[in-house]
This record gives sequence, C-alpha cells and structure tokens, in this order.
Amino acid sequence: MKTLAVLSLKGGVGKTTTSLYLATVAAQAGQAVTIVDADSEHSAHRWAAHAQLPFEVVQGEPDRLARQVKAAQAGDRIVIIDTPPNSRELLLRAGGLADIALVPVAPTGLEVDRLRPTLELLADLQAQREDLDVAVLLTRYNPRRRLAREAEEALEGLPVLKARIRELEAYKAAFGGLPNDLDEYTAVWKELQE
Ligand SMILES: Nc1ncnc2c1ncn2[C@@H]1O[C@H](COP(=O)(O)OP(=O)(O)O)[C@@H](O)[C@H]1O
Ligand SMILES: [Mg+2]
Repeated sequence: MKTLAVLSLKGGVGKTTTSLYLATVAAQAGQAVTIVDADSEHSAHRWAAHAQLPFEVVQGEPDRLARQVKAAQAGDRIVIIDTPPNSRELLLRAGGLADIALVPVAPTGLEVDRLRPTLELLADLQAQREDLDVAVLLTRYNPRRRLAREAEEALEGLPVLKARIRELEAYKAAFGGLPNDLDEYTAVWKELQE
C-alpha cells in the first residue's frame, strides 16, 4: 500500500485523527510518510504546526491535488490524504488517487446509516478503478456496549476492518502533539497491509 485516502462525507468521524495516527505508525516503522491535507480547514496542517512530527504535512490545493500526491509518492513514500467532509468532488479526487480508501465511522445506528452516500460514491469510483480497495474503520467504539442492532445490520456485508479504535480521552487530547498509545492504530495499519 502506497497511498491511503481517509474519507467520509461526514465530519467529526475521526478522519484527521486517523490520518495523523497512521502516519505516526508508518513513520515509526521506518517509512517515509507525507500527509496531504486536502481539507480547506487544514486541521492536519494546524496539528503539525504545533508538534514535532516524524513525517511531513503538505497543505493540499484542490486543483493541484493529483500533482501534489504524485510528487509526494516519489521515492517510495507512503502518502496519506486527509479529506474534508461534505465534498463529493474531493472525495472522488482523493479516492481516485489512492490504493485504499479508508472510511472511519462511529458505530451507532444513525452514523452507520449516514455512511451510505459515501459508500455509494466509492462504489461508483470502484467501477472505474477496479484496483481501489475500500475499508471501513470503526472509530469511537465502546467495547462494553454491544453494537446497536441497526448498526450491525447496516455494516453487514461491508469491508469492515477487524481492528477497531475505541472512544478514548487520549485520542481527543492528541491534537497538536505527537500521537502516542499507538497500539490500536498499529493493528489497523497491519491489517491495511494485508
Ligand atoms: N477514537 C476517538 N476517541 C475519542 N475522541 C476522538 C476519537 N477520534 C477522534 N476523536 C475526536 O473527535 C473529534 C473529531 O475527530 P477528527 O479526527 O477531527 O474528525 P474529522 O477529521 O473526521 O472531522 C475531535 O475532537 C477528535 O479529537
Ligand atoms: Mg478532519
């Protein structure tokens, strides 16, 4: 896996957190990593401005995104594209440049239901790009609570990763620092390599 797009039409699902943690995991495994921050809110970029990170964060420009990603891919780098919510166009662009589209989702019935428009777009993209893999990542997960039945049903048949990210204060407090407690995201990263 060379290029990962973290995307969802929904905001607040953990895209930026996931991008920063996975970049840290890959960097600590010795890989050269670039995050291309395609969100005009630039939250990944702002995060990086506050921290000493073992990877670079490039501010993405929508009209140059393909060239920026190509440039970042040179020299065997891992590229992670963090994306904005509510942009079908950027979702399609970022997904079109990626080997894997990773879709974070919080596992409540309502949230899972709102995953459909994102998955529809990705299914359409896969019809053009058969080599694009899609994976759903459960974030903000509470292992003590059973998944709501509606959520289980909505997730059935979807490519959901076995590795899950729990709802933890540590993730909430991570903004602006070097991510630590990497175990859960390390498991995600391993599963994505397979
Ligand atoms: N696993 C988690 N547990 C607790 N809080 C989380 C978790 N993942 C993300 N958050 C928090 O949720 C909010 C939204 O996360 P963020 O990564 O910015 O989502 P997005 O980029 O999809 O908008 C942030 O305040 C973040 O700190
Ligand atoms: Mg974000």
